Amino acid sequence: MKHSYLAQRVATLKPSGIRKFFDIVATMKDVISLGIGEPDFVTPPPILQAGIQSLQNGETHYTSNAGRLDLRQELSDHLDRLYGVRYDPVTEMVITVGVSEALYLALTAILDPGDEVIIPTPCFVAYQAEVILAGGVPVEVPSRMEDNFQPNPEAIEAAITSRTKAILIGYPNNPTGAVASRDTLQEILCLSDKYDLIVISDEIYDRLVYGLPHVCFASLQGGRGRTITLGGFSKDYAMTGWRIGYAAAPAELLKGMLRIHQYTIMSAPTMAQAAALEALKTGEPHLQDMLAEFDRRRKLIVGGLNDLGLPTFEPHGAFYAFPKIAATGMDDETFSEMLLEEERVAIVPGSAFGAGGEGFARCSYATAYEKIEEALQRLERFMKRHG
Ligand SMILES: Cc1ncc(COP(=O)(O)O)c(C=O)c1O
Repeated sequence: MKHSYLAQRVATLKPSGIRKFFDIVATMKDVISLGIGEPDFVTPPPILQAGIQSLQNGETHYTSNAGRLDLRQELSDHLDRLYGVRYDPVTEMVITVGVSEALYLALTAILDPGDEVIIPTPCFVAYQAEVILAGGVPVEVPSRMEDNFQPNPEAIEAAITSRTKAILIGYPNNPTGAVASRDTLQEILCLSDKYDLIVISDEIYDRLVYGLPHVCFASLQGGRGRTITLGGFSKDYAMTGWRIGYAAAPAELLKGMLRIHQYTIMSAPTMAQAAALEALKTGEPHLQDMLAEFDRRRKLIVGGLNDLGLPTFEPHGAFYAFPKIAATGMDDETFSEMLLEEERVAIVPGSAFGAGGEGFARCSYATAYEKIEEALQRLERFMKRHG
């Protein structure tokens, strides 16, 4: 081949900062990983069993494109119960292959080439890439630790241009653990009304909150009509490998998304949809058990990091702590690489999550309590040498 056949937007896409780092981790022994972005728990038994039963019942065929209707109905009730938002299961919901696919559908459905999407950062590593893959232009607006990593409405407004089509938010946030306040979300809604923008709200960590309520963006008065709500089962129910998520949106938007889904995916995995249905029906006590354990670990790691002189914002959601490591005089990549090399502790450099992440690192507490204790001891040794 004389030249690359890859499309320019693919060829120029940067590999995820997380992947690069974990390729190194995979070659090492005795590493304690605080780098993982998924629950360490196995999917709770009744949910697991529902998936197995579905296979044994011979449910090995496609479902309807939008997903099993009973799952969409249950999900619609679930969102109504939790947030008072009612979506029509027939015309306003699609079951997807994780939130990853739901995000892809939302962006591909609304973006024309060159359309801009405003993204408060630091954020999940796929946001910018998915916007580019959908032909759009990501516009990062950093949020700051001094503002509790809330998205900054003034900075968002300043970034709006005639090409802006949407604002993409993800709260509870990966990687900061911030939960967006009702007031902040209300301000974002005002902006989206003023400039006629769509809000894509990734609420995959909606149930993983500690002491603060999660506000569903579509539940804000007047919010539902311009919101694409994305949610899933990966984090709340420890189901990353099942690959089930969903999108809920006004019928016209959903129709466009469903068209893309029809031609690219057909339908989400059938046995996994059965498991997701079970999660909604009987998963709550299991979710509460996992949440209590996450909370125990959260207190351990946040207290431990602060005691070591690494200022750490108190995360009220998801399962990440986001210490500021700038005080050590190292940049976040050097800090993470040296910590891995010298003490075999894997964390993720904050700059992997976009502007606003530089000088920080993401430490996941979705790992056993004892391992976090050991990681903190190793970090203490490291800080004594370099702090
Ligand atoms: C904020 C956020 N959104 C979406 C995803 C993707 O989740 P799924 O497994 O549902 O594709 C992740 C996974 O880490 C995430 O952190």
